[in-house]
Amino acid sequence: MSTSSKENTLEIFEDIKKNLTRGVKDRKHAFHTPVISNVDAEGGIDSRVVVLRKFDPTNLILNFHTDFRSPKVFNLQKNNKSLFVFYDHKLKIQLRIKTTSSINNQNERAREMWDKTRLFSRKCYLTLKDPSSVTEFPEDGIPEHLTGKEPSLEESEQGYKNFTVVENKIDEIDWLYLEISGHRRLRLKFINNEPKYDWLIP
Ligand SMILES: Cc1cc2nc3c(=O)[nH]c(=O)nc-3n(C[C@H](O)[C@H](O)[C@H](O)COP(=O)(O)O)c2cc1C
Repeated sequence: MSTSSKENTLEIFEDIKKNLTRGVKDRKHAFHTPVISNVDAEGGIDSRVVVLRKFDPTNLILNFHTDFRSPKVFNLQKNNKSLFVFYDHKLKIQLRIKTTSSINNQNERAREMWDKTRLFSRKCYLTLKDPSSVTEFPEDGIPEHLTGKEPSLEESEQGYKNFTVVENKIDEIDWLYLEISGHRRLRLKFINNEPKYDWLIP
């Protein structure tokens, strides 16, 4: 992307979509592991890194996967407002994306994604204790016989009830391009997936 294209709203939007798509596919891309924040049970802010699992450029949806028992699922059901932060050092681009989250557990969407997960990844959903629960000694909660091993297909299926796809519908993107000769900042607000653009002072 040339410097002049950093002042062209359509090109910026296309570039955002291109990089989010790459972020899903390329594990080395900085956009592969955004931070997502939401409101916790006490009304505070909670943030954590997740893996970006899907980006739908037509419907403007970002997905990540998690365990249904984790507190963020309950909290997102209570308050579905969420915010992703992406930063790519090489591209010099920060994206702050406001989203509305919805939880998919033991439904068609969860099943579709679960069927695509590898056995090794399914291990995360087999912890005996709930994620975030207090434990007496340092452990990962995964049954001992699975240390360093993949579960069998049959055993892995026990994790399905915990596997959750969090879909996050994009409401607004705040794009920031850091450039020594002059930073640029664009806000994209979406109504029916159509962006309304506003340049902002960075
Ligand atoms: C590189 C990286 C990727 C992660 N990916 C995920 C993920 O996709 N889903 C998830 O629930 N937690 C993921 N985590 C763990 C979360 O950051 C967090 O520690 C965990 O989900 C507990 O968060 P909670 O207490 O808000 O539920 C990841 C952590 C790192 C460092």
